[in-house]
Amino acid sequence: KIGLKTKTLGQYIHYEETVGSTQKVAHELAANGAPEGTLVIADEQTDGRGRLMREWHSSKGTGVWMSLILKPLLPPQKAPQFTLIAAVAVVQAIQETTGLEPQIKWPNDILINGKKATGILTELQAEPDKISSIIIGIGMNVNQTQEHFPDELQSIATSYGMVAGRSLSRSDIVQKVLERMEALYELYMAKGFTPIKLMWESYAVSIGKRITARTINGSIEGYARGITEEGVLQIEDDTGQLHHIYSADIELSR
Ligand code: BTN
Repeated sequence: KIGLKTKTLGQYIHYEETVGSTQKVAHELAANGAPEGTLVIADEQTDGRGRLMREWHSSKGTGVWMSLILKPLLPPQKAPQFTLIAAVAVVQAIQETTGLEPQIKWPNDILINGKKATGILTELQAEPDKISSIIIGIGMNVNQTQEHFPDELQSIATSYGMVAGRSLSRSDIVQKVLERMEALYELYMAKGFTPIKLMWESYAVSIGKRITARTINGSIEGYARGITEEGVLQIEDDTGQLHHIYSADIELSR
């Protein structure tokens, strides 16, 4: 990548025109000793995956389909924080390259004009007490037009290019994401999660708003109060009780 101003992230790039899933390739590379900062990126994914094994549409040449390998010396419980670090990096990269102001919907969606333009999937290879590799998958819709999305996604998905009203450079966006990610990763290792959490909350759509969280154990409705140091969402229900949400789909109420 010409002009990439990072020290480690993206210094090894594994590019493929067409791949099943960059996430799967990154898992294999990480298990076989790929160094920290290795980037797997493809022009097209035929089997892109999202959270909860959902399908991730990754049509050729339209978006950024990438997986980044990090090897922080941390316990496995810290891994979910990396989804939030990556979300902040994506928001800042999009602000800098396009002037748009994306928002974050906990845990891993980045919205523009209320529709999803980026999803982040953080996965782990770990020993009981130590992370071996974190694999951060980022899918960014960049130059899709509405026709690229299947019917069921029409009302919920969009691309940055569609909102900006012009075609955007995918390589500029990738470079900026890597630069922001490297800076935030350094900040996190030096100062802990608090500064990242504050940035994350400033970009989040749902904080302070009334939301419904659908978990595997049922729904909880209340006000989103913030996230904990672990990246767990806190919801206050109408009785004043605070709930910690580890995994859910959230929706703004009314
Ligand atoms: C989500 O919103 O559920 C997460 C979507 C993550 C998609 C990215 S695209 C690059 C990487 N490879 C995959 O198969 N998935 C992630």
